[in-house]
Amino acid sequence: MINQDRLWNDHMAMAEIGATAAGGSCRIALTDDDKAGRDLFVSWCEAAGLAVRVDTCGNIFARRAGSDADAPPVITGSHLDTQPLGGRFDGIYGVLAGLEVLRALDDAGIRTRHPLEVAVWTDEEGVRFGGGCMASGVFAGMYEEADFLACTDTDGATVADELKRIGYAGTVPCGDMEVRAFFEAHIEQGPILEAEGKTVGVVLAGQGKRLIEVSVTGEEGHAGTLPMELRHDAFVGAARMVVALNELAFRFDPVPVITTGHVRVKPNSRNTIPGGTLFSIDCRHPAAETLVTLETEMRRTMEEIAAEAGLGVDIDTVTSRDPVVMDPGCINAIRDGAERLGIPHQDIYSGAGHDAFSILEMTPTGMIFVPCEKGISHNEAENAKPEDLAAGAAVLAEAMVAYGEKI
Ligand code: GLV
Ligand code: MN
Ligand code: MN
Repeated sequence: MINQDRLWNDHMAMAEIGATAAGGSCRIALTDDDKAGRDLFVSWCEAAGLAVRVDTCGNIFARRAGSDADAPPVITGSHLDTQPLGGRFDGIYGVLAGLEVLRALDDAGIRTRHPLEVAVWTDEEGVRFGGGCMASGVFAGMYEEADFLACTDTDGATVADELKRIGYAGTVPCGDMEVRAFFEAHIEQGPILEAEGKTVGVVLAGQGKRLIEVSVTGEEGHAGTLPMELRHDAFVGAARMVVALNELAFRFDPVPVITTGHVRVKPNSRNTIPGGTLFSIDCRHPAAETLVTLETEMRRTMEEIAAEAGLGVDIDTVTSRDPVVMDPGCINAIRDGAERLGIPHQDIYSGAGHDAFSILEMTPTGMIFVPCEKGISHNEAENAKPEDLAAGAAVLAEAMVAYGEKI
């Protein structure tokens, strides 16, 4: 039923927008390239006869009518924004698989009682405005819309301004609706399915996360004249903290993942001793209690280093998400679908965060993983096989039709 070539060609066409030198994609949220990607997706939805609407957080929904217009929709979807040096599949697959499912159901003449929808969630990656998964979080009632719209990038542009600028500040209220169920298809972004020779991963749960912003304050000085022992170098302090947090990780079992991927040095001049350094900590673990202990330990470690080095430190937890479990009914619908189609599958845990982790706060939610080459993701080299993408979409169709009630 799924048209494998159409699904693959859509990925390749989307990847032409914001294409990077090494074969990846760069469509950071609410940039011109994000707009172009959204526009392309909307044009495909309109060509497929779907009714498109945009909510006040810029989330896009494309609806295939059900026989009962008042029945709550079954929604699938993911994101079209990427990392700065991102791949062609992270997020994109979940959106395009959803569109392919709706087109394939048309081709096969299959109708459902519930409407079926494909969603594009705004700013999943959190590269530009900080949080990540916030628009799906507003939809699910986890965050205040005003807080999301007021988030700023490093140039001071707000989400609200940028949504208007690219023409995606919609009028439909965000999240003010009943949803029958939500499914998200995604590449695994890890090596397990490929190693096990399985085509589909049935996601059972996902690990929790803390996103922490740390600001270290020292004192600017002349790089040539101020002796080493008199310095209060904020960047050296931040570097010591990052190394210490890496060492701290290995004191826990299982070992959490801790990443510093964003650093800003002030004034960022080659011959001035840094007076300030801002850096991010992304910390994840499958156990909620461990995350609490870890956060306390991380704070203590950084405060000790700052005190010892005569530096100021300000530690701000921007995102705090507990580990999540998927809905048993959705898990079964995915597993049963894979069984019916004879697709090799296994249960799996999600290391990455997803919009589905927001939506499960409001409605039964499930996730379908497909393998990606060598588990590589958040990397221009991210790759997946056309037949695996099609198999995952076929399982998605089974699950959506089961919840959508075939007529
Ligand atoms: C999403 O890409 C994440 O940070 O897990
Ligand atoms: Mn993703
Ligand atoms: Mn991602």
